Amino acid sequence: MTNLVCDLAREARSVRRFRENEPVPVEVLRKLVQTAGLAPCAANLQQLRFSIINDGSTCGRLFPLLKWAGYLEGWPGPAPGERPAAYIVIHAPSQEKPFTRIDAGIAAGYMTLAARAAGLSSCLLLSFDRERIPEVVESPDGMSAMLVMAVGAAAEEVTIEPLEPGGDVRYWRDGTGRHHVPKLSLDDLLLPQGSTKE
Ligand SMILES: Cc1cc2nc3c(=O)[nH]c(=O)nc-3n(C[C@H](O)[C@H](O)[C@H](O)COP(=O)(O)O)c2cc1C
Repeated sequence: MTNLVCDLAREARSVRRFRENEPVPVEVLRKLVQTAGLAPCAANLQQLRFSIINDGSTCGRLFPLLKWAGYLEGWPGPAPGERPAAYIVIHAPSQEKPFTRIDAGIAAGYMTLAARAAGLSSCLLLSFDRERIPEVVESPDGMSAMLVMAVGAAAEEVTIEPLEPGGDVRYWRDGTGRHHVPKLSLDDLLLPQGSTKE
C-alpha cells in the first residue's frame, strides 16, 4: 500500500552537508512556515513564531553557533561550500507550558516534510548557543529561539538501516561519505494488539 506522506517521511532524512551555492528562495521558505502554521497545536493557541534566514551574511553569522552531528566524532560539521543556504528559526514563549515543545516539534515535523516535498533537505538543530543566538536572530519580547531548521539542497546521501530493539541508534558515515541512519521496523514500534486494556 502506498502512502504519499509515508514515502515523503522516508525520503526526509536529516542532511548535514548541503550545496551551499544553491539559494533557497524566500517564497519556498515562506511556504514551509505556512505549512507549520497549519499544524495542530494545543488549544489552537498558535504561539510559535518563525524567522527566515537566507542571505549569505546572516547564514554565515548563525552557522558558528550551531552544533552538528554529535555521533560523528571528530567531524567539525559542514565545511565551507557545504553549509546550509537557509535556516528557519522557531521562536517559542520563554515561559514554557507543558505543550510548548510538543507544538514546536509538530511544527518542525510539518516543515521537514514540506521541505522534502519542495525537493529540499533539512536538519533540525536543538544544540546551539542559546546565549549568543539573539546576536544574530532577534526573538519577539517574551520569546526565545527554541529550534533551528537548516534547509538547502542535499550534498550527501542517506540510507536507512534496520535497527534491532535495544541496538545501537547512532548514525554513521561510511568510507564513501554516505550517511547511514538506523531505524526500528514497524513491527518493533507496534505493541501487540492485546496490550490495550478494556
Ligand atoms: C528535536 C531534534 C533536535 C535535533 N538536534 C540536532 C542537533 O542539534 N544537531 C544535529 O546535527 N542534528 C540534530 N537533530 C537531527 C537528529 O540527529 C536526526 O533526526 C536523527 O539522527 C535521525 O535521523 P533522521 O532525521 O534522518 O531520521 C535533531 C533532531 C530533532 C528531531
